[in-house]
Amino acid sequence: MFKMLLSEQATVREDLIDTLKLHSGARVLEIGCGTCRDTIHLLNRNITVYAGDLSHEMLAIGQQRLQDAAADFDRVRLFRADVMRLPFADGFFDAAYHFGGLNLFPDIAASLAEMTRVVRHGGRVVAGDEGVGPWLSSTNFAKILKNSNPLFEHSAPIQHVPISARNVDCRWVLNGSFYLISFDVSSGEPGLDLDVEFPGWRGGSHRKRYFGRLEGVSPQLRDNVVKQAAAEGSSVSAWLEKTLRAAISEK
Ligand SMILES: C[S@@+](CC[C@H](N)C(=O)[O-])C[C@H]1O[C@@H](n2cnc3c(N)ncnc32)[C@H](O)[C@@H]1O
Repeated sequence: MFKMLLSEQATVREDLIDTLKLHSGARVLEIGCGTCRDTIHLLNRNITVYAGDLSHEMLAIGQQRLQDAAADFDRVRLFRADVMRLPFADGFFDAAYHFGGLNLFPDIAASLAEMTRVVRHGGRVVAGDEGVGPWLSSTNFAKILKNSNPLFEHSAPIQHVPISARNVDCRWVLNGSFYLISFDVSSGEPGLDLDVEFPGWRGGSHRKRYFGRLEGVSPQLRDNVVKQAAAEGSSVSAWLEKTLRAAISEK
């Protein structure tokens, strides 16, 4: 597959793993490791790898590959697990990696969420699979790949990236035929300062505009309020706050 995409397998796999931005001594999850083709490259870094797969058969071939490559078995643990239920505590890993099977995981959002759950705050998640870049959809390149293998019809599932992800990137590798999603793990929604006042005639802040909405008034009254606020050199938001506070005697 690498050859037909005019790429050198080892170079591509090293590039994919660079996306993890690993530091020496990191503890890394590789799920869907298959026959450990990436595991060998992960072990080139000074890290510990937990390489898991759903299939006993794949893991057996993977173990043999690692033995043949004289891998350091103090730094690699093979285990059988489903990406949807990883047998690790929250935040156990510095990074989580998957390549090659994401499109066919039973629930992509739940799989990415589970990979994210086991990575510490500030760690990285990287996942990729077949999916020709959308800008190439009209090319013979895309049509030929999709004709031979319908998996190339998939799109990068960026809508399934967890809300807690930050610095989300999506790039296409192997000449644009595989997507690679990567992100840093954080928690909750991105932060937003709700109280910065907007300049201009409307005024207000995100908090006032989003959480402070009142029932409407007639269009004519609205226009008159806008005019009155402008005449007093005030934003509409500030004028309304002042006037409504005075009307209910609130400071
Ligand atoms: C196409 S292979 C890719 C293997 C390897 N990552 C590589 O790049 O050579 C996809 C792997 O995902 C595994 N897999 C499929 N569903 C899985 C699941 N729910 N949980 C864990 N692994 C799964 C398969 O057994 C298979 O080994």
